[in-house]
Amino acid sequence: MATSTARSRDRSAGISYQELIAGDVVPAPAVLQLESPYQGALSSVSVDRYRTQAFHELEMQKLWPRVWQMACREEEIPEVGDYTLYEIGHYSIIVVRTRDGIRAHHNVCRHRGRRLCDFAGHAASFICPFHGFSWNIDGSVRGVTSDWDFPQIDPGDFGLTPVLCDTWGGWVFVNMDTGAEPLADFLGDLPEHFAIWSPEDRYVQAHVGKIMKCNWKLCQEAFMEAFHVITTHPQLLAAIGDENSQYDAWGNFSRAITPNGTPSPHIRWSPNEQEKFDSVTMRELDGPPNPEVPEGMTARAMMAEGARQGLREVVGDDVVISDAEVSDSIYYTLFPNFHPWGGYNRIVYRFRPWGNRCDRSLMECYFLSPFKGERPPPAEFHLLDEDEPWTNAPELGLLAKVFTQDTFNLPNVQRGVEAAQFDEVVFARYQETKLRHFHQLLTEWVS
Ligand code: FES
Ligand SMILES: [Fe+2]
Repeated sequence: MATSTARSRDRSAGISYQELIAGDVVPAPAVLQLESPYQGALSSVSVDRYRTQAFHELEMQKLWPRVWQMACREEEIPEVGDYTLYEIGHYSIIVVRTRDGIRAHHNVCRHRGRRLCDFAGHAASFICPFHGFSWNIDGSVRGVTSDWDFPQIDPGDFGLTPVLCDTWGGWVFVNMDTGAEPLADFLGDLPEHFAIWSPEDRYVQAHVGKIMKCNWKLCQEAFMEAFHVITTHPQLLAAIGDENSQYDAWGNFSRAITPNGTPSPHIRWSPNEQEKFDSVTMRELDGPPNPEVPEGMTARAMMAEGARQGLREVVGDDVVISDAEVSDSIYYTLFPNFHPWGGYNRIVYRFRPWGNRCDRSLMECYFLSPFKGERPPPAEFHLLDEDEPWTNAPELGLLAKVFTQDTFNLPNVQRGVEAAQFDEVVFARYQETKLRHFHQLLTEWVS
């Protein structure tokens, strides 16, 4: 029966991603030709993961204090003495550049526990605003006010509480568990996947965050599949292979690749190449017309060629830029909350709880762009309040409009799960592979 055939298929109808890139003008690199066999074990998870303060607290105890997490870009603290603060739940970590490299310390005064620094900045030492105890930027103690009154303090053993710190790809990662496995082991093959895109050679062109009225996992999961495009972003359907996406998972990271410039298998009409091009560029009906797609050319090839020409000036002539690397949405997830995009897409997301609430999160989007000559200074962080629209951040361009559509759903998903009278949400076998993989790892971490 047709229904049972459809239900037992591994993939949707239509061309697979690997078949699609086999027809590209400039072939995709080896990393995009990889496919993992993984399909994920968890077919459903407890609704309570998204709605209870008890589960949030479990994460605050078992996950965040033990896992590697991206704290900032190296370029945000370029000079010795520059520091930033990385906050997660009630934890706060100072990430500072010292003469011996980047270091991280808990942002807590060892006298009576005041937060040591209130803001990011530049410092020769950290001085507590309460009674003036101070620490050198490497974390060693510098001064104890009225030291005659603290016979119990051994200055050699009164440094700031250390946090592990390491870098990859221009990102700084921290881990509060000083006995944790090295970052390189945690990353596994991820740096190898990104080697051809050298993320360390990109600069922060934009950095926008918004407080979201939903759990951090619920938020990031909306950016881990193309399954929602059919109803959330229907304007894209003429030129997005939502259901043709490839989903993979290896070790602590997963990947989705959604092809663009190819129509969705969901639509019942056949868009011409111009309609595909207009869809993928999100041309507004009352906006200026797009350039014409020449006879004999596909929208995908035209998109790729335009993007390639734009990049040439920056990356030089000897870098091979395939159609896939400039056309497709290649979105990786490093457990638990870091989402760098592959290829020449500029996007990097990070999601985390906002404050100590299970129903609020901070979603951030970085644009990391290649540059020529001297590295431009990183963009200032632009934080949008929970009721501010993404379109208040024009630096995100078209993406702000797409986020607006996602943001329309998310508080309603939160309200829905809070009211749900069933125990579990269910995941698609293939298209929600990344969610299954994430929750499988999360289960291991919080157990
Ligand atoms: S709490 Fe920091 S010096 Fe007293
Ligand atoms: Fe979306």
